Amino acid sequence: MNLHASIIDSIIRSRTAVRVFRPDAVLKEDIVAILDVARTAPSNSNTQPWRVHVLGGRIKKQLGDALACAHADETHPPLRHLPEPLPDSFRSRQEDFGVRYYGALGIDRKDMDARARATGRNFDFFGAPVGMIFTIDASLQKYSWLDYGLFLQTIMIAARARGLDTCPQVSFVRYQSVIANHLQIEPGHEVVCGMSLGYADDFSVVNRLDMPREPVDRFARFAGFDEVCE
Ligand SMILES: Cc1cc2nc3c(=O)[nH]c(=O)nc-3n(C[C@H](O)[C@H](O)[C@H](O)COP(=O)(O)O)c2cc1C
Repeated sequence: MNLHASIIDSIIRSRTAVRVFRPDAVLKEDIVAILDVARTAPSNSNTQPWRVHVLGGRIKKQLGDALACAHADETHPPLRHLPEPLPDSFRSRQEDFGVRYYGALGIDRKDMDARARATGRNFDFFGAPVGMIFTIDASLQKYSWLDYGLFLQTIMIAARARGLDTCPQVSFVRYQSVIANHLQIEPGHEVVCGMSLGYADDFSVVNRLDMPREPVDRFARFAGFDEVCE
């Protein structure tokens, strides 16, 4: 294999969702360098739909505290980030995720209070020193959200290349209004997701969940590759 492929493949494969971080600070110049790489992500007609709020210190804590209060308020409508009912093939993977995740945390899946407390850790950015909130102009369509996914993955890979770890977090979407009150979100924008950024605690079992993936032949269909060329 060529050298670049082997290095880049191993960086991509080393990315996992990290949910326990060491308190070690992240240099602002590293964050800027990561975003500077991510801005090269492709987008429809080069529209670049991303806006990022990078939070540290007191501001991150204040937002986290406000979100923890909102999370404790049981009247807040739940976030439906996947359709219900979820088609069978997706549901079985979602259930497998739950078994692995709550199993690593030592939480009985029927213990809804303990699960809610675990979900609440999202809003503290899992103890990471840096939190990011991503927003998009709400008038944009699904094609621009596709651009956003490319941007987010590029951030996560650029972070790994610098020894940093991340967790992308849709959980923040539940509290759009709290976030809008704390950050100066542009008018007409909505929250896409948040992301924790920092150095992983490598001793945490929660950081070693080993989420399985389907093999290539389960999701890719090849055509026209077995033809004999004259
Ligand atoms: C768009 C998106 C949103 C996610 N939201 C959350 C979240 O709110 N909280 C969380 O703990 N993990 C979240 N995750 C992480 C996924 O659970 C994780 O990527 C998946 O289980 C596969 O595991 P891996 O990333 O470690 O390979 C999210 C991932 C993506 C891509």
